[in-house]
Amino acid sequence: MSERNTRKIRMRVLMIGDVVGSGGRKAVTSLLRDLRAKMNIDFVTLQGENLAAGIGLTVETVTEMLEAGADVITTGNHVWDKREFIDHLDDPFLPVLRPLNYPTDNPGRGASDDSGPIAVISLIGRVWVGEFDSPFAVIDDLLAGGFGQGKPIVVDFHAEATSEKAALAWHLDGRVAAVVGTHTHVPTADCKVLPDGTGFVTDLGMVGAVDSILGVEVEGSLARFLSGRRQRMQPVRSGLINFNSVLIDIDDSTGLTTSVERVDRQVEV
Ligand SMILES: [Fe+2]
Repeated sequence: MSERNTRKIRMRVLMIGDVVGSGGRKAVTSLLRDLRAKMNIDFVTLQGENLAAGIGLTVETVTEMLEAGADVITTGNHVWDKREFIDHLDDPFLPVLRPLNYPTDNPGRGASDDSGPIAVISLIGRVWVGEFDSPFAVIDDLLAGGFGQGKPIVVDFHAEATSEKAALAWHLDGRVAAVVGTHTHVPTADCKVLPDGTGFVTDLGMVGAVDSILGVEVEGSLARFLSGRRQRMQPVRSGLINFNSVLIDIDDSTGLTTSVERVDRQVEV
């Protein structure tokens, strides 16, 4: 049998929403190995900008998630929050991406096609998030340069506005396997495959506590709204945790997607 005939045709990618603090990390550790095995998952991305105490990342928390079964960690606006981690963004052995459309002289990289069978791109939105280079133009340039080594490409678009996320997915339809939104921590029920084969969901959701405000303890977050002042906010560390993710089936011969479905679980940690 030729190599072509023995090559795996379907690739299954699990993309996990924002993992919030130690409670989120514990939930990933307790669920992911089993999910990978039972669902024949080939590759896992994980949104990790809130891994460490609910804000930023550290080498230790990244390592914990890689050991739990994640292959590539994407991030967003909180990637810079733990200053000691910024230098590690240039570590070639840490598969952590910062959004590609930050100014290019920042540390780190925003796209990876050498961390397994799937290429991954991290982008950040501009509507209600901040002033960045156009995610549309930046990814167009990257794809025009031949990024991906022929591998299927998935995109984590860390953005607030639902319209901006859908617009990017339609812009990339037929050119990447999937565009998934993150940042709101709220899972959306709109998984679909666009006409030319790009899978899409507006937001993956989070891995964070059920009894929380976006994974954060209610008291601190609520006080911020009641007082109008910044308040100390802590991620919920234990209790019932929502594990939100999306499973994407990709036809490896086309690099495009055949199905997208939610994989949502709850676990006590
Ligand atoms: Fe964010």
